[in-house]
Amino acid sequence: MHDKAPLPLRSRKALNLKGRIRVPGDKSMSHRALMFGAVAIGETRITGLLEAEDVVNTAKAMAALGAGVKRGDDGVWRVQGVGIAGLKSPDAPLDFGNSGTGVRLAMGLMATTPLTATCQGDASLHKRPMGRVTKPLELFGARFETAEGGRLPLTLHGARDPVPVTYTLPVASAQVKSAVLLAALNTPGLTTVIEPTPTRDHTERMLKGFGAKISVTVKDDGRHITLEGQHELKAQALDVPGDPSSAAFPMVAALISEGSDIVIENIMLNPTRTGLITTLIEMGGNISIENRRLAGGEEVGDLHVKASRLKGVTVPADRAPSMIDEYPILAVAASFAEGTTRMQGLEELRVKESDRLAAVEAGLQANGVTTRSGRDWLEVDGGKVLGGGMVITHMDHRIAMSFLVMGLSSAKDIAVDDSAFIATSFPDFTGLMNGLGAKLAPASA
Ligand code: S3P
Repeated sequence: MHDKAPLPLRSRKALNLKGRIRVPGDKSMSHRALMFGAVAIGETRITGLLEAEDVVNTAKAMAALGAGVKRGDDGVWRVQGVGIAGLKSPDAPLDFGNSGTGVRLAMGLMATTPLTATCQGDASLHKRPMGRVTKPLELFGARFETAEGGRLPLTLHGARDPVPVTYTLPVASAQVKSAVLLAALNTPGLTTVIEPTPTRDHTERMLKGFGAKISVTVKDDGRHITLEGQHELKAQALDVPGDPSSAAFPMVAALISEGSDIVIENIMLNPTRTGLITTLIEMGGNISIENRRLAGGEEVGDLHVKASRLKGVTVPADRAPSMIDEYPILAVAASFAEGTTRMQGLEELRVKESDRLAAVEAGLQANGVTTRSGRDWLEVDGGKVLGGGMVITHMDHRIAMSFLVMGLSSAKDIAVDDSAFIATSFPDFTGLMNGLGAKLAPASA
């Protein structure tokens, strides 16, 4: 249960999706732009910020910690930073809603300033592991009082005299890497994070842009990211490009709906985020990247996608970090492919906004798709999607959007029990999809 009214939605068969669209700004970059701006010196100006619940919660948290955060009528967000040691204890608990990125990165940011803050979120966030972040932050000298199992809600006491840390990531997680690097900002000396498996590198790239003393060396045991702390950051002007994880939904919709031909403009194509595009092209997807360019330190391009006959593939486990949020929609694409698709290295899917492996498999089976799975893998037999199922979304935006896309090409309609959480990352998903020719409409639960 949650405090939002559930919004069941239904998706009907739709052919010939057509149009040029833009999806909202990248979620990872949006959280970071607000947080880094909050501890920089001067005014950071952000255009293209994702104005969705997860990011708005981060904006509110930064304001509660003392930064000036304002959205102008021109759509530009302006953040007045307080410096790396300037955050203050908030008057009330910080509420991060549904967002693991929001709370974990903010914990890193607060961990090395002597403040006290209580962090909480919704029922989904309260189930997610926080020990992966509190453990390394304790090494800096921070202390935590947590709910059972090290989970939220928790109260953080930032370190008064933080000590630098060398930390090897035990899980492939950009959130954990980022929490450690943000704690390092206000810590004297050199902090090093060793990342055996590369994950999204927005924190490293953006911190460099803000003037942090950060360097990356690739060694036998992985990427060593070293940050020299206690140097102030300089406010920046940032333009956030479109989120590839949101583009994934219209992209797969166009691939599986006969006669479709769409362009999704201005998508961020950082190579640590493009595993889904690589995989769909291997499956025979007609996707071309047009107008490739560099914008704000990131590669950006327009995705031209046409309906395609897909075939099943085996997706290598080492590709997982570059498409970790995209497995639900890949599983939908795989359902319409000829043959079997095998996905492996999926252990982290168990601890996302829902247990995504279980939620995806249940949704596929409810719509007549044959699947097999294990602790960290999933196989999907393509070619037979009956539809007609009601999918349980478990407070997970990506489960909701994935199965609404599936309904565009299944024999019978597909319904999701609750689309309310789509607002955490992609507020106008329904309008945008219907603008392309999709048929999404309210359903009864
Ligand atoms: C994110 C990292 C990923 C991803 C999440 C956003 C980030 O989580 O699933 O949606 O912005 O750092 P993990 O780092 O925990 O895998």
